[in-house]
Amino acid sequence: MAVSASAPVAREAIQAAILSALEKDRGIANTEGFKVKGTPVDQAEIIGLLKSLESREIVTYEAIEDEWLELTEEGADIADHGSYEARVFHAVPSGNEPISVPDLKEKLGQIAQFGQGRAIKNKWIKKEGAGFVKAVEKIDDESQKLLQRIRSERKHSDEKVVKELKKQKHVTPIKSLSYSVKKGVKFTTDVRKEDTDVTEEMLKSGDWKNATFKKYNFNAEGVQPRCGSLHPLLKVREEYRQIFLELGFSEMPTAKYVESSFWNFDALFQPQQHPARDAHDTFFLSDPATSDRFPKDYLERVKKVHSEGGYGSIGYGYDWQQKEAEKLLLRTHTTAISSKMLYDLAQEYKRTGVWRDVKWFSIDKVFRNETLDATHLAEFHQVEGVVAGKGLTLGDLIGTLHNFFKKLGIEKMRFKPAYNPYTEPSMEIFAWHDGLARWVEIGNSGMFRPEMLLPMGLPEDVSVIAWGLSTERPTMIKTGVDNIRKLAGHKCDLAFLNRDPIARLDK
Ligand code: PHE
Repeated sequence: MAVSASAPVAREAIQAAILSALEKDRGIANTEGFKVKGTPVDQAEIIGLLKSLESREIVTYEAIEDEWLELTEEGADIADHGSYEARVFHAVPSGNEPISVPDLKEKLGQIAQFGQGRAIKNKWIKKEGAGFVKAVEKIDDESQKLLQRIRSERKHSDEKVVKELKKQKHVTPIKSLSYSVKKGVKFTTDVRKEDTDVTEEMLKSGDWKNATFKKYNFNAEGVQPRCGSLHPLLKVREEYRQIFLELGFSEMPTAKYVESSFWNFDALFQPQQHPARDAHDTFFLSDPATSDRFPKDYLERVKKVHSEGGYGSIGYGYDWQQKEAEKLLLRTHTTAISSKMLYDLAQEYKRTGVWRDVKWFSIDKVFRNETLDATHLAEFHQVEGVVAGKGLTLGDLIGTLHNFFKKLGIEKMRFKPAYNPYTEPSMEIFAWHDGLARWVEIGNSGMFRPEMLLPMGLPEDVSVIAWGLSTERPTMIKTGVDNIRKLAGHKCDLAFLNRDPIARLDK
């Protein structure tokens, strides 16, 4: 480690030196060159102290800004030994015996080259044969005198001259900031450390009466608080939850990611050959790979409706396999939860003979075996709404969706006929996006098919309307995040989630 020429002076020592200087004289005219026991003190140190002393009215100070010229090493050399052209002049003999160029170089080194041209231009020397002789008896070395004057006066009034000297690198401007210091109204040399708090001891001993307390600095900038923040997806989820609760929905228990194919697909009248049931689209479990814990009589009815039909349907007409239904998977949609919930509701109805309307929602994670890109992750969150009641129609579905999305601030909506194995009719939901100036698909919806509801044991006159959407898409649109991987998944920067204004948005 490099050792500086003088060890830094302790803050207390500088403070004591300033105060004793003030006590002796009336003030310190300029802290420039202020020394403590012979060691010069940095002005930055001094201002730190002055600020604190001023806040306690012990001193007052004013800044002194100064600017002056200082000679460079080369400038000082000229001031001491003359300009290069003058040195060339003095090296050249008078009379008729010239000095050759090599001899001049031998004598003066590089300076011969630097000064030669100007000495000729000044008509101080002239060519004689292959060398030079003096052209005048005596010269006046203005350049040397100029630099000598600047050295003592540290200033020059002619800006042009200064500019030229700077260009030649003979002078450099120096700026300084120092201070003039005077006694303040509460001047004292006995500066005690100020107390910051009234302590129990002070109160007991009565010391608080004589203590000096540090003033509050209301201009101090606070430290950025280290606090947690909600993930934007959690915020959006909370927003959806509130809307559902306001509309009188209750939340379905979704705290499980693993489902059987039975509840995820078969109960939803999704045929076993359906491409969504392929390993390319769905994550299947390997250990345990299967489960057969389904209600056996219901399983029989599901098997029947798939293979033979019933309830006014001709079914799909294929050989339904229980093995296929037993496969465990990471649920591909929260509709798997809805199907199990509706089955349980039907059992309640069977037991009690009393029908009750339900309005349910869920917001939770689902999994798809997708190729990851800017808008797709292998997992995302679904919002699902389910309303079951007697005599519900497509009009109820459309009205419910309008109510729901209005609460989200979406007024312009369009519906497009679509296909889901478990709903008929089915509609994709589009919303007008002002920013993008186009219709954006925001969800999927429909009325659950009788082939799904009747095998469960729900009354025939009950219909169920349902819809689903992702939370990621609207969150991206809302927060302007163009890559889903920035928002969720293993590449997501946690610091971004904490620091970014989106983490602090109210809504
Ligand atoms: N389950 C559907 C999906 O994953 C959404 C949906 C839910 C559609 C309910 C209709 C009814 O996209």
